[in-house]
Parts: sequence; structure tokens; C-alpha cells
Amino acid sequence: MNVAIIYFSPTGSTARIAKEVHDTLKETAVDVEEHDITSYSDRQKIIDLKNYNAIVFGFPIYYWRAPRVIRNWLKSINGEGKKCATFFTYGGVNIGAAHYNMKTILNQQDFFLVASAEFICSHTYNLAGWDIFKNRPNHEDYEIAREFALKILQKFTTNAPEVEITNPDIKEEQLDTMETAMKRATSAPFRDVEHCSMCRTCETSCPVHAMNAEKGKPNRKLCIRCLRCLANCPDKVITIDDMSARFQYIKKITHLNDEKLRTLKSKIYL
Ligand SMILES: Cc1cc2nc3c(=O)[nH]c(=O)nc-3n(C[C@H](O)[C@H](O)[C@H](O)COP(=O)(O)O)c2cc1C
Repeated sequence: MNVAIIYFSPTGSTARIAKEVHDTLKETAVDVEEHDITSYSDRQKIIDLKNYNAIVFGFPIYYWRAPRVIRNWLKSINGEGKKCATFFTYGGVNIGAAHYNMKTILNQQDFFLVASAEFICSHTYNLAGWDIFKNRPNHEDYEIAREFALKILQKFTTNAPEVEITNPDIKEEQLDTMETAMKRATSAPFRDVEHCSMCRTCETSCPVHAMNAEKGKPNRKLCIRCLRCLANCPDKVITIDDMSARFQYIKKITHLNDEKLRTLKSKIYL
């Protein structure tokens, strides 16, 4: 059996879960190929899905769904009835409508979704003053990733039905409005020009070609606030406005308390 793992991972957590799934599948003598579509150029390349019996997709959650750039990219591929599984990584705040929205997109693109999963990972905005799940994924999350790999393999190789995902009853238009408002309220990263060695890593690694190394800031409209530039900068001169006040606000409106955070677990849907 040949499996492709296709993932988008600006700050590396989704890639870590993808690797765990990859290694587990490989141990069972499955041929696995990873396709990292984080970079702009890698998303322009055609992945020939005919080479694979099944596909695993892995994406972070941005504003309760897979990132818009990924939802758009998915519309350029066709599954021709192929089996697939998805997994998401998220910062433990809210996964919202992600599973249902993804199943809808994948079905439209003629994929047959047999399983989905969600993994708690360090929130990207820990790089901007948040304080949530800084040490995730942990050994328990990786254990669930291994279990996920074995379960999807079973589903890929048998006559398994599609996974049933409950409709969260949130309209796409509501999510779009929320996404636009949240993105607008998040400042874009910028650079301390004085100490920059001008290596341009921020510009070359930006997943959406938004960053301009000369100016030391991205095009605000194109920037998806993924903080890859900040995470990857070897000189550590990219920064972002402190977002800790926003974290306290999000905690309040989502009723995130210590008890809730302690009991939250990564999950598999079959
Ligand atoms: C723009 C943006 C929006 C996010 N929205 C959410 C969200 O709605 N809920 C949540 O729990 N985490 C959210 N996160 C956190 C990421 O989903 C999480 O940190 C993820 O594991 C990052 O994956 P990566 O390291 O592979 O880039 C968001 C992160 C970013 C950058």
C-alpha cells in the first residue's frame, strides 16, 4: 500500500504529528511519502495522487477551520473516489467547525473520508505572549497519533464506511465574518532592522509571499499571521506586538479555565 501524507505546517507542530503518523505506517511496511505544502512554491507543484492508494491530510486550525489558503488549495485537487483521512493540530482554544468543513470540501473534491483526528499542540501565539499548551504535543498526543495511524491503515485496507461528523450548525458566512474580524485584530509581525543580517529567510519561507525583507514587514492583506517568519528567523529579529491581553479576553469569552485545559485531550473520530 502507498500512502501520501500531505501537510501544511508554518511553525512545525503539524509536521511533528505527520512524522509520527509516517513512522508508524512505515513500521507496518506501508510505503509512505510526505508532501510538505507549507511553502508557496510547493503548493504550485502537482502531486500525482494516482501514485497512492490513500491520502492523509494534516493541517493546523486557523479561526476554527483549516487555513483559508489550504481550503483554496484543496479545490485544485481531485480524489477520484480515493480514501483519505485528516488530522488537525490546534492550540486548545477551539476547533470549531473544522472536521465538518473539511469533510464537506473533501467530498466535493471526490475524496472518501474514513477518519479524522485533532491534536493539541502549542498555540502559535505563545510566540506572542500567550500561555497555552506550551509543551504539547506530549507523549500522550504522540501515542494517539500512533493509534490514529494504525486505525486509518485498517480503514484504508478494508471496506470501511465514511466517518460521520456532526454538523456543528455554524454557517460558513458566520465563520468568514469571524475570520476577517480576528485577522484584522491581529497585528502583523515586523523586524528590528538594525540587527538584521538580511538573510531573507523571513521572505523566502513565507507561505504566502507576503513578507518583504527590505521593508522588514509583510503586506498586511496577504499575511496570514502564521508567524513562520518569526519562528524561522535565525537572527531572532522578527517580532510581533504582545498579545497577552487578547489571550485573557479569549480565555474569558471561551470559558477556558485551568480545569478545562487540564482535561482536554487529542481525539480520533472513526
Ligand atoms: C492565524 C491563526 C489562527 C489560529 N486559530 C486557532 C483556533 O481557532 N483555535 C485554536 O485552538 N488554535 C488556533 N491557532 C493555533 C494553531 O492551530 C496551532 O498552534 C497549530 O498547532 C499550529 O500548527 P503549526 O505549528 O503546524 O503551524 C491559530 C493559529 C494561527 C496562526
